[in-house]
Amino acid sequence: RYPVICIDGPSGAGKGTVTWRLAQTLGYQLLDSGALYRIVGLKAFEAGLLNVDGEQSIDETALLALTQSLQIVFEPNIDSGRVDIIVNGAKIGEQVRNETVGGYASRVAVYPKVRQALLKLQQDMASQSGLVADGRDMGTVVFPDADVKVYLTASAKARAERRVAQLLQAGQAADFEAILATIKARDDRDENRATAPSKPAEDALVLDSSNLDADAVYELVKKHCQD
Ligand code: CDP
Repeated sequence: RYPVICIDGPSGAGKGTVTWRLAQTLGYQLLDSGALYRIVGLKAFEAGLLNVDGEQSIDETALLALTQSLQIVFEPNIDSGRVDIIVNGAKIGEQVRNETVGGYASRVAVYPKVRQALLKLQQDMASQSGLVADGRDMGTVVFPDADVKVYLTASAKARAERRVAQLLQAGQAADFEAILATIKARDDRDENRATAPSKPAEDALVLDSSNLDADAVYELVKKHCQD
């Protein structure tokens, strides 16, 4: 089989950047597994399956049927430095990347049937070429035999500060305390769910990027891949 590199970790730790650069450098495919959960979350919201107040349970049978109805394809987009997501033949808009949809994603990601339905699609991507896989459970569940596993983390404060800087640079308003609270709520849900919680695999290199910039993280991960 082809080589697999897993980059797991919480939101805002810098996985997206390092995954993209590795995939480009090595000529590997990129699996943005978070995008899968984001699509399911967005479609579940549009189908009225997510109640507004946010914490009540979702009809798992309906959620599974919805997940199974989605044909999802990734296409690298050099201009954006991310993959475009094509669902049932139509390109999904940038909205799927926003924090509201991130919250929907983490709510649907709790359900074992949803995770199971997305498993084969993810594993199949490693049967065509080398793969760099970005997510929460790449090293623990989806690719337990991966060649390289990294768990990229950073303090919640550092991640919130990065997010604020990104928003300000994009000319948008940013409230540090609100962003920090949102990050902590999503971490809490992702780390404490029963199925495939976000955590380092036993054989993962845990890298704290709180005091590292994107270039330094990339160099450390690249070196770890060569070791
Ligand atoms: O980009 P960001 O780190 O903010 O989020 P993401 O990687 O797009 O993931 C969105 C959500 O999907 C996460 O908060 C998780 O709840 C879920 N997810 C998951 O459960 N398993 C994965 N392998 C990837 C994402």
